[in-house]
Amino acid sequence: MSLSFMDIFEEWADNYDEAVTGHNPEYKDVFENYPFMLGEAAKRAHGRTIEFGPGTGNLTLLLQNKGLEITAVEPSREMAAIGEHKTGLVFQHGDFLHFDKQPADTIISSFAFHHLTDSEKETAIKDYHSLLSEDGRIIILDTVFNSIEEKQEIIDYYRSLGYHNLVDDLNREYYPLKQHMHMLAERSGYNYEAVQLNKFAHLQVLTKKNFKRPADLIGDTPLVELTTFKLPAGVRLFAKLEMYNLGGSIKDRLGQNIIEQALFRGDIKTGEVVEATAGNTGIGLALACQAHGLKLRVYVPQKFSVEKQDIMRALGAELVHTATADGMLGARAAAKSYADATGAFYTNQFETLDNPASYDKLAREITDAVGTVDMIVAGAGSGGTFTGLAERLKPTGTRTVIVEPVGSILNGGASGSHRTEGIGVEVWPEFLEHNLIDAVETISDDAAFAAVKQLAVQEGLLVGSSSGASLTAALNQAQNVKGNVVVIFPDASDRYLSQHIYE
Ligand SMILES: Cc1ncc(COP(=O)(O)O)c(C=O)c1O
Repeated sequence: MSLSFMDIFEEWADNYDEAVTGHNPEYKDVFENYPFMLGEAAKRAHGRTIEFGPGTGNLTLLLQNKGLEITAVEPSREMAAIGEHKTGLVFQHGDFLHFDKQPADTIISSFAFHHLTDSEKETAIKDYHSLLSEDGRIIILDTVFNSIEEKQEIIDYYRSLGYHNLVDDLNREYYPLKQHMHMLAERSGYNYEAVQLNKFAHLQVLTKKNFKRPADLIGDTPLVELTTFKLPAGVRLFAKLEMYNLGGSIKDRLGQNIIEQALFRGDIKTGEVVEATAGNTGIGLALACQAHGLKLRVYVPQKFSVEKQDIMRALGAELVHTATADGMLGARAAAKSYADATGAFYTNQFETLDNPASYDKLAREITDAVGTVDMIVAGAGSGGTFTGLAERLKPTGTRTVIVEPVGSILNGGASGSHRTEGIGVEVWPEFLEHNLIDAVETISDDAAFAAVKQLAVQEGLLVGSSSGASLTAALNQAQNVKGNVVVIFPDASDRYLSQHIYE
């Protein structure tokens, strides 16, 4: 600390407790309501607590009474001797800037922080950020002024009373303005709150701001109400916007879950993962593999969106094209034989139960948002989204509608080509139980693309063709239900622009 406070502390040690209990008239106003103030500070402390400048241990005692795990760091040996005697703790020798760095939930200090210069205050607050847990906080009980004018008025007033020790102290030490503390806190990564407790003292609480990392942006997508489409009376239509996941589609949930489950079970032996996908699954897997330092190899039928292929590559995946004419079945066969030959982990989205399980949280997010779900509408590619949602929602009375393009086999039709991308089933998914389905909606490409345009024009929503198909299905089915209809929009239109989605 830049001032030689140590000398002051040594003098202070013997009469500190007298001052705080109001026996020293000069400091009576500074310490007015002392026990109450300490109580307010202690009340806000939790968990592992570092107390700086415990002095003679008055706040330390209250923290002890709360049963907190306390490290007390005190620069003055004289003060520490008194405090240690009072609390039975051994105080660490050190100060705000020099101490044994350790993780903490609370960093707390009473009537000491003003011994640091402004730049030391900033250094300290910034240093503490990495020590504090996610809901960590800094609690500073100390003199703070509301304005320079206020500080001057207070100094003038106590000078007129002849309180020269106090006036010297106020002029010499680094009492900050509240506004300055607020700014320091904000720019060091904290939210700032301050309550004034007497003429001098403010209780300042700096709570750590926790910033999300990119990987946190999977799930918890927005759910919006669509109000521009004609609906039967008593029906509300909601859309879950899965394009707001990190990789831009619902499949980020799948990628994350499949990889985490496989790692948990120890199924990934060679550090390489392989899958067949039209794209979104590959993007979701690429993100998950990147997060866990794994290699990803993806088999993609040639015709699929080049944007998705570019994105997979950008995220570090290696792409292998299979013939468009062989469809997804051809891509699956190629992925499987690569896994058999090399020992790479085949994620097998079309068969693994980890696929539908990836959407447990999606179902929860939806019910948390709307309460009762009277009808759920979701497209099927692998069938995972629909199966996961239906397994969780159907038992609560939700009507379930599965959506496919013309050219998909769920309705008993023949397998054939379609332009609606991401949905469409060539063989019945093993995990999809027939009794989970209340209705199958088979939507033409033209209807799906028309709905995509309508969503852009009417709602400002830029979604992919499978969303258009699902909206059409939801509108077709709306007369069969009362209440809340929720439709899943798996991705955005920008990754289909090269396929002229709006033309
Ligand atoms: C755009 C889009 N919509 C819908 C789906 C269908 O999801 P699921 O495989 O869970 O049936 C997918 C799957 O890839 C997709 O990419």
